[in-house]
Amino acid sequence: MSKVIMQVKNITKKFSANNRFLTACDNIHLNINAGETVGIVGESGCGKSTLAKMIMNIYKPTSGEIIYHNQDITKLKGEDLRQNYRHIQMVFQDPISAFNPKMKIGNIICEPLLNFKSIKKSQMKEKAKELLRLVELPEDFIDRYPHNLSGGQRQRVAIDRALALEPKIIVCDEATSALDVSVQAKIIELLVKLQREKNITYIFICHDLALVSLFSHRIAVMYLGNIVEKIDGDKLIKAKHPYTKALLKAVFSLNNEQNKNIETLSGDIPSPLDLPKGCPFQNRCKYCKDICKQEKPKLKEISVNHHVACHLF
Ligand SMILES: Nc1ncnc2c1ncn2[C@@H]1O[C@H](COP(=O)(O)OP(=O)(O)OP(=O)(O)O)[C@@H](O)[C@H]1O
Ligand SMILES: [Mg+2]
Repeated sequence: MSKVIMQVKNITKKFSANNRFLTACDNIHLNINAGETVGIVGESGCGKSTLAKMIMNIYKPTSGEIIYHNQDITKLKGEDLRQNYRHIQMVFQDPISAFNPKMKIGNIICEPLLNFKSIKKSQMKEKAKELLRLVELPEDFIDRYPHNLSGGQRQRVAIDRALALEPKIIVCDEATSALDVSVQAKIIELLVKLQREKNITYIFICHDLALVSLFSHRIAVMYLGNIVEKIDGDKLIKAKHPYTKALLKAVFSLNNEQNKNIETLSGDIPSPLDLPKGCPFQNRCKYCKDICKQEKPKLKEISVNHHVACHLF
């Protein structure tokens, strides 16, 4: 059985906006297994990046705990917090904005290692070449600048920089979304290869349901700050929550008949400033009953490893 590496326990994040509170994440509970990929999906604004930033300790949660190595990492400060970054790294959607444009690729990759004094300056060149080989980029890239690289190459550099400290967990927030499909496939292949070699755990945030289901061992579906369904990656097609089913119906397919409409979700997501009483999905759900407007459904295990928060089950 897989070992749990991180427990996200009842995490809530509220932001203050114009003297009101916006709930970006609402009582999120998630166990993450070592060496596995957890995919996080959901529409724009549902709280995916906020969750990622709490795992990365960029945001402090309003309440709840994130347990890693038997300690609540949301409470870490000073040197303990700094050391924690060795274990948990993040790859963003747009690495060009995360890189210093005046730094050469070799320096960008090795900067975390120098910061943690894991290597000496004299060892930098060799280490940078070794790291570039790991992500299948030519060694002579060490002297290039970020703007001299293609989008896919830059994303490999971003992954390389995240890998440099040999982290246990890498959070990928839409890390491949800006790339064309063939480059995306190569990056995913690379991530899978590195996971097998180094037993890395990924938290993979992505809009593309087909990609998430291929790549993830487990998937958490978020809606308006809540996890509404948790399911094994290869069983996504058997999802039960009306929201997940609607998301799956809205996916484009090459096999679509031309006269068949893509079923998009009707209605708008309610404002996170004004969360409805009861189920967050009630105003867009065609199965909405009285109880859905009164009581918020809890996540229930409806079959092995399959949890749904819906009064229908
Ligand atoms: N620093 C902040 N201050 C105030 N509100 C914020 C802040 N960051 C995010 N939010 C709000 O929290 C909610 C969740 O945002 P988040 O960025 O986590 O969504 P997301 O699921 O990552 O969306 P996307 O798919 O568009 O990246 C949104 O309503 C957003 O406006
Ligand atoms: Mg986001």
